[in-house]
Amino acid sequence: MIRPLNWRPHNMRRAKISVIGAGNVGASCAVWAASKELGNVVLLDINEGVAKGKALDLYECAPIERFDCTITGTKDYADIADSDVVVVTAGIPRKPGMSRDDLIATNVKIVKEVAQNVAKFAPNSVMIIVSNPLDAMVYTAWKASGFPTNRILGQAGALDVARFRAFLAMELGCSVEDIQALLLGGHGDDMVPLPRFTSVHGIPIEMLLSKEKIDACVQRAKVGGGEIVQLMGTSAYYAPASGTIQMVEAIVKDKKRIIPCAAYCEDEFGVAPGQKGKGFFVGVPCVLGKGGMERVVPLQLNADETKLFNESAQHVKDLVGVVRNLAPELG
Ligand code: NAI
Ligand code: 2OP
Repeated sequence: MIRPLNWRPHNMRRAKISVIGAGNVGASCAVWAASKELGNVVLLDINEGVAKGKALDLYECAPIERFDCTITGTKDYADIADSDVVVVTAGIPRKPGMSRDDLIATNVKIVKEVAQNVAKFAPNSVMIIVSNPLDAMVYTAWKASGFPTNRILGQAGALDVARFRAFLAMELGCSVEDIQALLLGGHGDDMVPLPRFTSVHGIPIEMLLSKEKIDACVQRAKVGGGEIVQLMGTSAYYAPASGTIQMVEAIVKDKKRIIPCAAYCEDEFGVAPGQKGKGFFVGVPCVLGKGGMERVVPLQLNADETKLFNESAQHVKDLVGVVRNLAPELG
């Protein structure tokens, strides 16, 4: 028997990454995933032509960009079977003048339906939610899918911390690569960048920049999403997709990277102490590997940081209250 040229034994199987929603963020995720050769990519959208067209267009870059993976466009959930990671970007983005919270009524329905399909067709995957309002949409997907909390998480911190690092690099005139930073809380304008845990190649940021300049970078990071919406009339997609694929890479390569993600918290960071099964998804530092969200990394926050984190977590809890009203069937 002549085997097809693309035959490979099962234990040499490539990772499979499915992206739901082939819009700006979803298509950009497919570009980063393919160009880094993280695995075969499936792009699924209710608009089948867009999904198929973008997948084909991207595959036609492969001979030039030299990546080997398949890219499939579809509207059929059967095509996401056996995915290692499913990224959910389906949903409407905000327009100028809107907050992420204004998207909740539309996106809760979309994310609920998508998460149910992911649970049915890719039940062993790790699901990364990107749709906004992020923390409330992770909660929605968790309830709708019944996934264990280690296999469902949200992308926000990877993006928000990248923005913070970018603004600090602009201010310092140094390489972004040398800036390490940390950020906690929900993906809203009350997110919590942490200058005390920010350094430039190990040098505490306070030794290099004045408090005023650090505060200005913190503030710009907090409203960084809105800055882009104002400029181009819709929300950002290159950096959000880049942050998402940073998480995907950590998972499919089992890298054990520490990345801030919207992860399920009860006792962690005092989000819902002692309330078994009644926690929330909030941005905290996580170890990402083959098991998905493998561990929340504990931190000793000072009084000011704790206050800011609690305010941000309270905003997330309020939004989950809205989800519960909009979709009481989720429980
Ligand atoms: P977009 O409008 O370009 O793409 C959304 C896609 O979802 C469209 O192609 C649409 O056809 C598809 N879609 C809608 N309902 C669907 C369904 N039921 N099943 C499958 N596909 C469906 O929007 P964009 O810019 O890609 O943003 C997507 C979402 O990501 C928005 O909610 C946005 O707010 C959010 N976002 C989150 C970020 C984060 O850091 N967490 C950053 C940037 C955007
Ligand atoms: C962003 O931060 C809108 O969540 C999106 O760019």
